[in-house]
Amino acid sequence: MTKKLIIANWKMHKTNTEALAFAKQFKNTQSRKAKVIVAAPFTDLATLSVAQKDFQLAAQDVSAYDEGAYTGEISARMLKEVGAEYCIVGHSERRIYHTETDAMVSAKVQALLKKKITPILCFGETREERDSGKTKVIIKKQITKGLQGVDDVSEVILAYEPVWAISTFQKGKKKSSASEGDIAQVHAYIKDLLAKLFGNQGQRTAVVYGGSVHARTCENFIKYDDVDGVLVGRESLTVASFQDIINTVE
Ligand code: 13P
Repeated sequence: MTKKLIIANWKMHKTNTEALAFAKQFKNTQSRKAKVIVAAPFTDLATLSVAQKDFQLAAQDVSAYDEGAYTGEISARMLKEVGAEYCIVGHSERRIYHTETDAMVSAKVQALLKKKITPILCFGETREERDSGKTKVIIKKQITKGLQGVDDVSEVILAYEPVWAISTFQKGKKKSSASEGDIAQVHAYIKDLLAKLFGNQGQRTAVVYGGSVHARTCENFIKYDDVDGVLVGRESLTVASFQDIINTVE
């Protein structure tokens, strides 16, 4: 049985001291069934890599360049050295707040693969795109462009995160999280698309879901074969709520 991937995305939360406190308290209670990954801020990675063994580490972004005069950027080689085995790319907060394009996301995927760091490639439609029936078109575009030039797509984890279901974009708006039916339907489409586009490799590619994941909702869809895991924002910030999510894996 392949393990479900339970990935925390801490976003811009947790100083070193706070990250350490989390690590001290945390235990992967389902380690036989769930692989736990924490995408921590850059400044927490080195500390976490020596402080604990109960989860693997991811970064939340990377430079597309190997090295050079790029003030403020962090390279894949730097991430590797501080113990990051995974890295999120193309998160909607970066696509929207930092105007990242599919071409930039694809360059970052390449930079990570060169250093043997597994990209966690995020994609998903906005509310307007969904309402106008464009979900599949958008997903197909973001996946094909993001994976352009990748030799073995099964070395990339795909994260379906419908923008409208992410807590970040719901401030002051009516809350809406994707239903079990929405998730099942879109994941089936993605798995089918991957198999058609990439054959065997596509069939081996993991696809996780993200967007307002909570233990209460997670238990309904984590069991589906097409859902290889979850990417969790807000509910990953406390050990208790994150552990509740991990415990939904059976
Ligand atoms: P929330 O779980 O807070 O909606 O965040 C989802 C997300 O963006 C994970 O990458």
